[in-house]
Amino acid sequence: MTLQGVLNADLGQGSINRNIYGHFSEHLGRCIYEGIWVGEDSPIPNTNGIRNDVLEALKKIKIPVLRWPGGCFADEYHWKDGIGPKEARKEMINTHWGGVVENNHFGTHEFMDLCAQLGCEPYINGNVGSGTVQEMSEWVEYLTFGGKSPMSDLRSQNGHEEPWKVTYFGVGNENWGCGGNMRPEYYADLYRRFQTYVRNYDDNKIHRIACGPNSDDYNWTEVLMREAGRFMDSITLHYYTVPKDWNNKGGATGFDEELWFETLKKALHMDELITRHSTIMDKYDPEGRVGLIVDEWGTWYDVEPGTNPGFLYQQNTMRDALVAGLTFHIFHKHSGRVRMANIAQTVNVLQAVILTEGEKMILTPTYHVFDMYKVHQDAELLELSLDGGSYKMGDEEIPAVTATASRDAQGAIHISFCNLQADSANQVKLDLRGLASCEPSITGSTLTGDKIDAHNTFEQPEAVAPRAFTDFVLENGTLSVTLPAMSVTTLELAVKA
Ligand code: AHR
Repeated sequence: MTLQGVLNADLGQGSINRNIYGHFSEHLGRCIYEGIWVGEDSPIPNTNGIRNDVLEALKKIKIPVLRWPGGCFADEYHWKDGIGPKEARKEMINTHWGGVVENNHFGTHEFMDLCAQLGCEPYINGNVGSGTVQEMSEWVEYLTFGGKSPMSDLRSQNGHEEPWKVTYFGVGNENWGCGGNMRPEYYADLYRRFQTYVRNYDDNKIHRIACGPNSDDYNWTEVLMREAGRFMDSITLHYYTVPKDWNNKGGATGFDEELWFETLKKALHMDELITRHSTIMDKYDPEGRVGLIVDEWGTWYDVEPGTNPGFLYQQNTMRDALVAGLTFHIFHKHSGRVRMANIAQTVNVLQAVILTEGEKMILTPTYHVFDMYKVHQDAELLELSLDGGSYKMGDEEIPAVTATASRDAQGAIHISFCNLQADSANQVKLDLRGLASCEPSITGSTLTGDKIDAHNTFEQPEAVAPRAFTDFVLENGTLSVTLPAMSVTTLELAVKA
């Protein structure tokens, strides 16, 4: 089908916070251990224990911010167990994730080093569920206090004299569930108390993040904003795309087109969630001071057969690429409120961008979308309207195509499209208005596959990879683009000086 749209290149809508392209890495399965941390003595090439291949891959997509140590793990993590000489660090049972013994070799210093090597901002999630106010307060002192104090002395003893810079600090995680099964009224009071002792030391200014709702729990947002809104800088939202239901989620591969459609429909639900939570936030915070941070999102399938059910290891296909692309379009649309998002999770867990097996590493289709979309980081969102047409399945329909556009600091315009339709190409005719030049030079890249569950394996790591895209023509101010079936495409319009 042919779809019509308009891009107003001179109508900026505000900036797309680069932190929307953030990540989340938990002590879960093989995300931190094996996926990121292999230890200094590993035969896998590493820098201070962090594997080099993963570092390089993450640097390439310009990872802006990384959330750690959980997730559910955060509310049973005691940070003092993860500092000091590694051989003396206390072990613990990771009760949420497979009941495995955690040796605490990856702790505060290792995480801060990881962020320094990546050139990204740390986002640390504190423990409210099983921790104390003192423990949280001392962690912040240990991290950021530059003067002489018990915690800064301890930090120096452990080899880091200078304080680190930490902006983002989460006060609990999923406190409605794994983080303590609390009622919103109770958590709101606890949040107010805990955050009081999350101090700003020296010139380090902490952005305090409150635990927000699960999916469509609007009452949680209402109560938190009413009771504690003025004490927070941001509130979180968690939403996972589960194709079927939580007891039988469906596999990462081997699905049919009906399930493809259902998955994309559920991913599109993010738009309604953000809209409705934002409406509640608007009521208590009409100036838009408080941000909405979607710090867990992505697909959640049944684990790969034969793997530990507590490790949440799943493959990643073109379906995941589409989920990522259309979700970014939704985040861009809401970039006034949505100031950060963190995909769950970076390596080997859920909708990972990287999978590893021993010394081998592959990049998933989702990785390639992050790579193709990095041009939107901190760019100015542009007004784009598109009649996205209809992709129908039985009685249901979703847009066949979604799109977004932005202008970067150099003036280049990037337009990204998702063709959700699994079985047919679609043409988009975009009326380009307000361009500085009538003859921009255009280049493009697209990601598609030969079947709906096309994916990369350790044997075929390049089965799904972006390729140059030339199926477009600009004539009389109208850009006609033919998008392959099930594809994610980005065009760059470079305006000649
Ligand atoms: O990302 C996996 C888990 O999902 C996180 O630990 C938790 O916060 C959420 O329920």
